[in-house]
Amino acid sequence: MKPFPASVETLKGKHILVTGGAGFIGSNLVEALLSLEACVTVLDNLSTGFEKNIEEFAGNANFSFVKGDIRDAETCSEVLKGIDAISHQAALGSVPRSIEFPLTTHDVNATGFLTILQAAKEAGIQRFVYASSSSVYGDSLASPKAEGMEGNALSPYAVSKQLNEQYAGVYYRLHHMQTIGLRYFNVFGPRQNPDGVYAAAIPKFLDKMKHGGEIVVNGDGNQTRDFTFVQNAVLANLLSLSSTNEQAYGRVYNVACGRSLTLNDVIGSLEDGLKASGISPVHSLVYGPKRVGDIQDSLADITSIHQALGYDPLFTFEEGIGLYLAFNG
Ligand SMILES: NC(=O)c1ccc[n+]([C@@H]2O[C@H](COP(=O)([O-])OP(=O)(O)OC[C@H]3O[C@@H](n4cnc5c(N)ncnc54)[C@H](O)[C@@H]3O)[C@@H](O)[C@H]2O)c1
Repeated sequence: MKPFPASVETLKGKHILVTGGAGFIGSNLVEALLSLEACVTVLDNLSTGFEKNIEEFAGNANFSFVKGDIRDAETCSEVLKGIDAISHQAALGSVPRSIEFPLTTHDVNATGFLTILQAAKEAGIQRFVYASSSSVYGDSLASPKAEGMEGNALSPYAVSKQLNEQYAGVYYRLHHMQTIGLRYFNVFGPRQNPDGVYAAAIPKFLDKMKHGGEIVVNGDGNQTRDFTFVQNAVLANLLSLSSTNEQAYGRVYNVACGRSLTLNDVIGSLEDGLKASGISPVHSLVYGPKRVGDIQDSLADITSIHQALGYDPLFTFEEGIGLYLAFNG
């Protein structure tokens, strides 16, 4: 792993709440915060996260885990005692899940968000970093996509993330909370769940390549994404939690690599990576219909986060895939 920039070392000794810390991105963030000697409390209801993602931190005196729900105001205010800053990662991900279950998605992603945001305000916590998503760009055809170029939402999930940004903006303007929203673009890496119908493409594909089964690509595989290794998303959180740039607050930023790859490119990279480590992929590959709510191309402009927070991706796609394959054995 590459070192984080020295500026994030100010997080040492700070007590950070990571909601959704038993999930994929959250647990990688927890690991980084503990390596910086921050104290970390995780609030997670384990609905899509796993205890196994955080069990390695259990022996660390700086770490604590509260099994609870962000929709419960009492739990939120209890867990916020003594907290200096929040990184809010808890949500129900997946566009298809939100189309199938719009009410639950809204309940967790929008009502849950407002519940923890209000609890933070009542507890006097200023710094509130939160996970938004590239899905807020909706049907915008702009490429690359810069903040301010949002289109119409294409899913209940995207609406829930747009609402997060709206509420955070309001709490910044009304209560001077130091909110920073991070619009992740297709994050991948260790501890990402490969199982279930709502799994993301990279962990699902890798699992099928290693253990057999059919990879179904929605569409012709030429759709493009800005695939982002998880340590880049972690870095964006660390910079947001530690930033002293007042101009950065109340805003939202793209978190990505600024590079476009097709799904077919990704499949090729995973196959090559496996072969290079002596594993022969055993999957079959079929192309199915395009998925409802999916956009054809998604590429981020990362100028804004570079200027406001000093973010530059720590890892390229290839470096990330290499580390991910090594993690998976
Ligand atoms: N992975 C990506 O590519 C990506 C892209 C854009 C945005 N995001 C956002 O990043 C955040 C983290 O995503 P992830 O990929 O790590 O997902 P994840 O499902 O692995 O993690 C989410 C965590 O939140 C927890 N959670 C869900 N509902 C909760 C509730 N009501 N109370 C407490 N905890 C709850 C889950 O148990 C899980 O541990 C989410 O907000 C997601 O919408 C992710």
